[in-house]
Amino acid sequence: MKNAISNNVIVVKHPLCEHNLGVIRDKNVSSDGFKNSMKRLATILILEATKELPLKSYRIETPIKECDVQKLDNGYKIIFAPILRAGLAISDVASAIIPDASIQHVGMYRDETTLEPVWYYDKTPVLYENPQKVKVFILDPMIATGNSSHAAISLFLKKGILIENMVFVSILSCPEGLNLLCRDFPELKIITAQIDECLNERGYIVPGLGDAGDRLFNTFEK
Ligand code: URA
Repeated sequence: MKNAISNNVIVVKHPLCEHNLGVIRDKNVSSDGFKNSMKRLATILILEATKELPLKSYRIETPIKECDVQKLDNGYKIIFAPILRAGLAISDVASAIIPDASIQHVGMYRDETTLEPVWYYDKTPVLYENPQKVKVFILDPMIATGNSSHAAISLFLKKGILIENMVFVSILSCPEGLNLLCRDFPELKIITAQIDECLNERGYIVPGLGDAGDRLFNTFEK
């Protein structure tokens, strides 16, 4: 596929991204160390991903006097949609930052032969009330083939969520997956900490970090 990575892919540059990527790539790091660094990375990426959330003016009283303040516009519903299971590392920190957001899990596993996603869980409502006023952050630490990311984005589009109201948050990505998403959803904003070299024949990101879910939940088959 022709390289089509668009300007909507934002690679967040920060020394703490580099540092924590260095930690999670290391195969000798414990599952606990992996999880902690993943969460630190997720915090930085979520701050970037939520930078354009709409604000509204409210009149409040400080202990001293009345004044106008800006708070998140409560006319918008904010949804964090972690793709199970590795997306949970990102939704944990996202919901700590925006506790009023709704967490709507989507569950897919990858068929190891076809590398296609197989759905097993969908906690999104059948219908969204006022879908134009919904902001969705889809969370998956890895954009590899892009197939499960594609399926999750398509699900929200089918339910009326606007592509300009979606952000995909991913810690590591690779050209194959990004090309697919940018080709089919050119307006989608994607936030990532690094774009790696390529995918291997088993659909793993190279050099990558291995299976993010296994490393997070300590389910390595040694
Ligand atoms: N999913 C992972 O967890 N790791 C990869 O390298 C690719 C997909």
